[in-house]
Amino acid sequence: MSLPTSARVYRRTEDGKDIELSTEDLPKELTPTQVLIRIHAVSLNFRDVAMLNDRYPVPADHRGIPCSDAGATVVAVGSSVKDFVAGDHVSPTFRWTTEDGVMRALGGDFDGVLRDYAVFESDALVKNPEYLTPEEASLIPCAGVTAWTSLAQDDWKKADKVKTALMEGTGGVSLFALLICLAKNITPIITSSSDDKLAGLQKLADADQKVLAINYRKTPDWAEEALKLTNGQGVDALVNSVGASSMDQNFKALKKFGTISLVGFLGGTPEKMPDVTMQILTKSAHVQGIAVGTKEDHQDLCKLLGEKKVKLSPIIDKVFDFEKSSEAFKYLYSGAHVGKVVIKI
Ligand SMILES: NC(=O)c1ccc[n+]([C@@H]2O[C@H](COP(=O)([O-])OP(=O)(O)OC[C@H]3O[C@@H](n4cnc5c(N)ncnc54)[C@H](OP(=O)(O)O)[C@@H]3O)[C@@H](O)[C@H]2O)c1
Repeated sequence: MSLPTSARVYRRTEDGKDIELSTEDLPKELTPTQVLIRIHAVSLNFRDVAMLNDRYPVPADHRGIPCSDAGATVVAVGSSVKDFVAGDHVSPTFRWTTEDGVMRALGGDFDGVLRDYAVFESDALVKNPEYLTPEEASLIPCAGVTAWTSLAQDDWKKADKVKTALMEGTGGVSLFALLICLAKNITPIITSSSDDKLAGLQKLADADQKVLAINYRKTPDWAEEALKLTNGQGVDALVNSVGASSMDQNFKALKKFGTISLVGFLGGTPEKMPDVTMQILTKSAHVQGIAVGTKEDHQDLCKLLGEKKVKLSPIIDKVFDFEKSSEAFKYLYSGAHVGKVVIKI
């Protein structure tokens, strides 16, 4: 079988404010440990658009290939690759640790997945559950794994002890976390700026499950409402996508010994950070910073999804054609979406 000789690739533009499509050569031969993949779908994360809008707090490659989340199939493998064969359903995992131990992030400080063909080292790939379409599988590597590590903390067995969880906003990480909650019988509370967005969420649950919802615009003291919804107890896990500006509300809504996972920065990064020392102490809180997750976290999540056959398509808000990728980025940045925005290649 003859292999493709070139790939259609998006890169960030010279001014760093948009993305542009071009054609690039693929290597003529694979090294023994490399795998050539055909990427069928890519899902967007806030970081992908934050990089174009001067809102990403860590350095990203100038002119780099954006995006981290793909659903792909294996086209060809190098001579020593044993774990994959042509046709396998795979995704590159988000985190890559270099030989000198530095953690790098796909689509940030090394080339990402917004392209039709790509070559990766075999140990950067994870097999996807067979029941998922490439569009669904594309939700997993960043959004899914972040939701998973936020709920599972540093040990997936701990997710079994979480009985209530609160997610901020109806973006990709929050809605993936909502699906994990429903699969693991964790009672979810989700906040949003919009009653319309909240109204559709109950459809994601089975008839005997309840999705609890709070409009944070109408109810600025949403933590008070979360306490009412949990009989005054508070929630076991809180997935913080907003950042520093919601920390006070987070601690108020948290159960004693609960966990706050610091995931996002949607509310901005103020120069003066809140002092939460006493709140950590008095709540005996576990506060963890999230860097998506390891390859093992990624595999654990795939195992859970495969066992429970969790349907991911209900949290796909909109699918764009590859040629309309720039529009997809603008749509995500508008915040009009609920859940995930996907690009089909
Ligand atoms: N640390 C990590 O490893 C990691 C991994 C993934 C993502 N992240 C970060 O987590 C955050 C969420 O990512 P995402 O991809 O899920 O984002 P997203 O899909 O773009 O979510 C955006 C949604 O969040 C809500 N929102 C926006 N600003 C808000 C604010 N000030 N207060 C409350 N809610 C707000 C809005 O929902 P409503 O209209 O419903 O309110 C908005 O539609 C981002 O900051 C992202 O960079 C971090």
